[in-house]
Amino acid sequence: MAGIREVKAEGMDAEGFINEKVKEISAAVGDGVAINALSGGVDSSAVTMLGHRALAGRLKTYFIDNGIMRENEPEQIAGIFKKLGVPVEIIDARKEFFTALKGLTDPEEKREAITQTFYKDVFGKLVKNSGAKYLLQGTILTDVDETVAGIKRQHNVFEQLGIDPQSTFGYKIIEPLIQLRKDGVRKIAKATGLPESLFNRMPFPGPALAARVIGEVTPEKIEVVRITTKIVEAELVSSGAFQYMAILHNDRVTGMRQGKRDFGLQIEIRCWDSVDARRATPTNLPYELLCKLGDRISTEVPGVVSVTYNIVNKPPSTMEAI
Ligand code: XMP
Repeated sequence: MAGIREVKAEGMDAEGFINEKVKEISAAVGDGVAINALSGGVDSSAVTMLGHRALAGRLKTYFIDNGIMRENEPEQIAGIFKKLGVPVEIIDARKEFFTALKGLTDPEEKREAITQTFYKDVFGKLVKNSGAKYLLQGTILTDVDETVAGIKRQHNVFEQLGIDPQSTFGYKIIEPLIQLRKDGVRKIAKATGLPESLFNRMPFPGPALAARVIGEVTPEKIEVVRITTKIVEAELVSSGAFQYMAILHNDRVTGMRQGKRDFGLQIEIRCWDSVDARRATPTNLPYELLCKLGDRISTEVPGVVSVTYNIVNKPPSTMEAI
């Protein structure tokens, strides 16, 4: 990528990288205040640790509860960081996000609505109230690549698209991880002292479960994906896969329950083997495990009558569905 020098995970000097980034953050923010949004993913978790090392109490970390996260995610993540001595404030923004998503069906419009709600409405207000002039953000090189190539607009990429965050949103963005890919971020995250549950955490997209609802995103559809995600994650945690997910399709399909026609919901499971998310292949899961998933989802998730497994590589598939 032009202008950004890639730092590869292999042979990386994690301590050296951390020290360099901590210095850069300190120098940029000076005696001011910075804020960052923690989602619990490895990228934002690593950034939170770097920012905390550089700024301590002058870093304000927020967890935005956008209503489209997994079950209990806000409380769980805030709890882990509390134990590490990093205070995290949970902001309830569920209403704002669902209002912004209402009526939208196009994937890029949905992503854009989440981006705007996140950075302009919710964060804009927080920045104003906190007096922060800087936002620390966990953008990585793969986000930039895919956005610039026009494959998928990652919600956290601005400058590379010619968008100036200062004039658009009123704050500067610092991106300490932009030279890294996921494998490099994991090394950094581990070296900052994060627990394995975070540094080895499966990737989860910025648009969260909204990336896994095809068509309009509503609280009801998110709830279906949320319950299904819990089942899929529990069953596939020991698969060793890079990432696994449940997707709710927009179309209903004919099924039957108790001798009657049930025009029900269709879930797609995806489970990926990958090193850095640039290419991926579906994991060769045992057939019995797939059947167990089908049984559990169709009995435990109300309305589901069909469960499928994606068997196409990335490319031409992408990992998420929107
Ligand atoms: P795709 O779907 O592009 O996913 O093959 C590649 C990796 O990136 C994650 N992903 C996202 N992460 N914002 C993010 O922060 C996004 O908009 C986004 N879309 C995809 C995805 O989960 C996978 O790990």
